[in-house]
Amino acid sequence: MLHYACLYDDLAKDFKMKIQIEGQSILLMLLLDKVYAIQDKCTHLGVSLSKGVVENEHIQCRAHHARFNIKTGDVLDKAHIGFIKMPTKKLKTFKTEVTEGKIYIDL
Ligand code: FES
Repeated sequence: MLHYACLYDDLAKDFKMKIQIEGQSILLMLLLDKVYAIQDKCTHLGVSLSKGVVENEHIQCRAHHARFNIKTGDVLDKAHIGFIKMPTKKLKTFKTEVTEGKIYIDL
């Protein structure tokens, strides 16, 4: 079911935006003019990814450096402290749609 998220122009100002829909924290990102949506909570310990570092199509959690593919949610690097790796699951991703300047998310 599609849910209104925000205006495309508002996302374009910062390229990242945290929103709440149906009780879920979702992080919207604009990469090369395409909108992506992922769960905002890191799958390691639940830290918000909204302050994470985005590089190309990856986002890295600031807490313990887990790195995820924004398009697929796949784990590229597990959370780690030094050489000790910690369990990290795939992120949930959501389909997005832009219609008449408005972004919708399929939940
Ligand atoms: S909470 Fe994100 S890597 Fe630990």
